[in-house]
Amino acid sequence: MRKNIVAGNWKMNCNLDESQHLINALKLEDFEQIKAEIIIAPPFTNLYPAHQSLQDSKIKLSAQNLNENENGAFTGEISPEMLKSVGAEYVILGHSERRAIYNETDELLAKKVTTALKHDFKIMFCIGEELDKRQAGKHFEVVENQLKNGLFHISESEMKNIVIAYEPVWAIGTGETASPEQAQEIHAHIRKVLAKKYNENVAEGTSILYGGSVKPNNAKEIFAKKDVDGGLIGGASLDAKSFKAIADSF
Ligand code: PGA
Repeated sequence: MRKNIVAGNWKMNCNLDESQHLINALKLEDFEQIKAEIIIAPPFTNLYPAHQSLQDSKIKLSAQNLNENENGAFTGEISPEMLKSVGAEYVILGHSERRAIYNETDELLAKKVTTALKHDFKIMFCIGEELDKRQAGKHFEVVENQLKNGLFHISESEMKNIVIAYEPVWAIGTGETASPEQAQEIHAHIRKVLAKKYNENVAEGTSILYGGSVKPNNAKEIFAKKDVDGGLIGGASLDAKSFKAIADSF
């Protein structure tokens, strides 16, 4: 059965001291009783110290991106093996900031997915529409195409390592959230698309997270929806108490 997950995407925030401070604050909170997997995604440079600090904790570690190549002349890039060697178990792929600011296409993301799976990563694969697409009623089509072009080359058994994060671009960092009904509607649609491509088992077994301005005051209502299995949290994951309060929604 699918898992509930609360994941913190720290983005490009926290130097090493700040990162360790936040991790220590998270370790003071009791996540053990929460019926959800808890993941944090600090910047690359903080992963190894984070991994060492989290040895005795239930909190799992994710990278925010990886390069689709194994190694070689790719100045400034980070390979899957490097990330594995510093303790990352998950990787976020296809975040809308990567798609929009760094021009990551579906085609590139499909390669990243293949490389990440080869290295036994679990992937949080992000999809979501921009405001004009939502206003034009094209959001179902957008997410369907993102899944088809970036993810659906993988096999049914590989889908076990995939978590989907639906993040409407208009809700990310804006304070604007999809209503619980809007989230439920599109999550149910994503599940239907998974059933059509694979089967009911994959559709029912895949965790689908909502992301976009999730805060302690709206998480419970959103997570209560039948097809919402948790959240990918940006801003509110940078504060241990807010992150815990969101996780407490389960
Ligand atoms: P936000 O970010 O919670 O700050 O809106 C979510 C995300 O980008 O993953």
